[in-house]
Amino acid sequence: MPNNVLVAYGTTNGSTARIAEVIAEVLRKDGMTAEALPARSVTSVEPYDAVIVGGGLYAGRWHKDARRFVRRHHTALAERPLWFFSSGPLDASASERDIPPVPGVHRAMVRLGAEGHVTFGGCLEEGAKGFIARKIVASGKGGDFRDFEQIERWAARTAGEIAGASAVR
Ligand SMILES: Cc1cc2nc3c(=O)[nH]c(=O)nc-3n(C[C@H](O)[C@H](O)[C@H](O)COP(=O)(O)O)c2cc1C
Repeated sequence: MPNNVLVAYGTTNGSTARIAEVIAEVLRKDGMTAEALPARSVTSVEPYDAVIVGGGLYAGRWHKDARRFVRRHHTALAERPLWFFSSGPLDASASERDIPPVPGVHRAMVRLGAEGHVTFGGCLEEGAKGFIARKIVASGKGGDFRDFEQIERWAARTAGEIAGASAVR
């Protein structure tokens, strides 16, 4: 199966990286070749048959590494099956309902013809970088709201869609 998938992520505190790694693990279990890499470290997406891009949400926007990644690789991404995910809400809302992409991510989806998007819960814990992050944690509003069953389910469904998209191409 010629499915070589890149899961590129933008993270400040590492929680989106872990989500990307879990997605790549599920794809590999499904027989694909998949690697999770920091978006800023990717120089070319040409070797990949499909791409998943994820970013932590900061002040209503995707992490800057994810934003720059989709700008930098615009042409190659538009030619490939492409999915997005975001990670942010510090409550159970992302497990309970579908949270639409923030406006900037929605615009990128339309521009690049992305197949889909999902919002996963976020994580903010002791040791997070930044004044506001530490304030949130100190006020008791942090925590780990990543739902790994939801993440694995989404990854398995997306694996099926990637296989279908490759068959059509
Ligand atoms: C300064 C700051 C701003 C944030 N803004 C948002 C936001 O606008 N929407 C949201 O859902 N989560 C927001 N969050 C929560 C983060 O998205 C969440 O902690 C996420 O898991 C961070 O990902 P990372 O660990 O990969 O950097 C914010 C967190 C911080 C510290």
